[in-house]
Amino acid sequence: MCGIVGYLGNRKAKDVLISGLKRLEYRGYDSAGIATMESAKLMISKTSGKVEDLISSIPADSHNGNIGIGHTRWATHGRPNDNNAHPHSDNAKKFSIVHNGIIENYNSLKIFLKSKGIVCKSDTDTEVLVQFISYIYSEKKLSFTETVRLALKEVVGAYGIVIMCDYEPDVIIAARFGSPLLLGIGDDEFFVASDSSPIIEYTRNIIFLDEGELAVIKPTGYEVRDINENILVSKEIEKIKYDLEEIEKGGYDHFMIKEINEQAHTVAESIRGRIDLEEMKVMLGGIYDWLPQILDAKHITITACGTSWHSSLIGSYILEELLKVPVKVEYASEFRYRETFVNNDSVVIGVSQSGETADTLAAIRKAKDQGALTLGIVNVVGSSIARETNCGVYIHAGPEIGVASTKAFTAQVVIFNLIGLLLAQRKGVNANICQDLINDLDKMPNLIQEVIDSGHNVLSIAKHFNNVDNFLYLGRGYQFPVALEGALKLKEISYIHAEGYPAAEMKHGPIALIDEEMPVVFLVTEKGYDKVLSNIEEVCARGGQIIIISTMINDELKSYSDHIIQVPKVHHCLQALLTTIPLQLLAYHIAVIKGCDVDMPRNLAKSVTVE
Ligand code: F6R
Repeated sequence: MCGIVGYLGNRKAKDVLISGLKRLEYRGYDSAGIATMESAKLMISKTSGKVEDLISSIPADSHNGNIGIGHTRWATHGRPNDNNAHPHSDNAKKFSIVHNGIIENYNSLKIFLKSKGIVCKSDTDTEVLVQFISYIYSEKKLSFTETVRLALKEVVGAYGIVIMCDYEPDVIIAARFGSPLLLGIGDDEFFVASDSSPIIEYTRNIIFLDEGELAVIKPTGYEVRDINENILVSKEIEKIKYDLEEIEKGGYDHFMIKEINEQAHTVAESIRGRIDLEEMKVMLGGIYDWLPQILDAKHITITACGTSWHSSLIGSYILEELLKVPVKVEYASEFRYRETFVNNDSVVIGVSQSGETADTLAAIRKAKDQGALTLGIVNVVGSSIARETNCGVYIHAGPEIGVASTKAFTAQVVIFNLIGLLLAQRKGVNANICQDLINDLDKMPNLIQEVIDSGHNVLSIAKHFNNVDNFLYLGRGYQFPVALEGALKLKEISYIHAEGYPAAEMKHGPIALIDEEMPVVFLVTEKGYDKVLSNIEEVCARGGQIIIISTMINDELKSYSDHIIQVPKVHHCLQALLTTIPLQLLAYHIAVIKGCDVDMPRNLAKSVTVE
């Protein structure tokens, strides 16, 4: 949600900023802009639209300075137009800021500024902040750093900001409260960014800013301070763990299809070193020390958003089945504001690809406050949720850039299986069940590759059904969350309205939607086969068009549809890994055929770091 980048060093800042913004564009693409310092004067270029629009709007011989900041926006306050694009500046154009987050008290600050004769020109909360900083500077006559620090103490809300000013032209200040920011430490050069993707090209050395910290970056070095206490904080330099090619398209048309195709590998990575086939054991170092407390828990709550919520629903089925403890799944946005029954007998699991989703992070903090043990299932190493949970398991899916989440989903399901297995073994659950599941886990990468290799069958279905307005996805048991995920994938990238339902729920309302125009995707497995068949019959009787994703093909199923995709049959706790992939491909191919911007779907952004 909004990408931020900053640079100070000997390179041409514009080049670093633009290439950084391209890498960050998956976080928002409503507008883009940069500000650079040119002979102690700020120069700003910005435009609505994508980074490509920004590039074509900047004259080639401009922006020659070595210090600068950049932003790609996902609009929160104000429409996505040129005026609301970042960087924002004060009326005197002495300060320039980029911001990710929401300043909640922007209205009262705006009224205050107006009473001082300072009128904002844009609709954004960000401009209010930079005008306020400028006002404090002129009133209090403090240093740039002290001015920013004091201003931030007055701010309510969330921010990741990077700011420059004419008065101290060789300084960049970055500050974080609620929106992620990290520093890249190169040889005589420094970077700031919302994530490590713009930095990895230049250095692997990074520092994560923690909540309430402010970094002052100068050509001679950097320091990090606590905003409230104004004391220096010593920070550990960490290493970026992935490689540059993992965040590039590598010959694919879109990140989404690259990431779908990577799933045999990413699932192998999420399993690697975690199962011992000889001993039939599961090893998860990240939760090892906490096992007694986890095993003693009287209830488990899983909290997440979007696709991660769907994998969590599968996770709840797995944990409840294997452990025989009550497991609830809550949308993080509901959990954080609802009266929740969570206490020191609870384990609360937060699931998040980015590890930065604002609602999931807030839900985890609330669970901690209520005494629960918190466990993170996270992809991005060092992200806020990974750092704030008591313990956790990384999914190791590698960077996910496509806005529509794919490989994170399958890796999350793997991790739920591993956690379920580990806890089940410790609880002494039937060894045969555990052995079957471990054996099938080991086979998953090859089976996933098989499903991906037969993807052309999905393409022909996509060609048949790309021109419809609605889709229904139906599944039972472990396949119901898959139905939800299939529908989400389709709607978010193709803009076709789609709903996922438990197959039997169809009779309680959605059946009214069925006519000759309506494709209905059924997820069929041997478990509950007869029941799903009755549901297929009900749709057929009303003229609906049937698409079947099934672990088997037989004459009975063929009599209902020509559009059948078969996937290998595995343990039901793992089946979602194979039935989901055709649905990812279906959504992808339909979106491409419709000419939709698959990696940058309208109104969306990866990593929702605001409420
Ligand atoms: C859908 C999608 C979103 C995310 C959701 C949670 O394809 O990507 O629904 O799953 O925003 O994001 P994370 O997992 O980063 O917390």
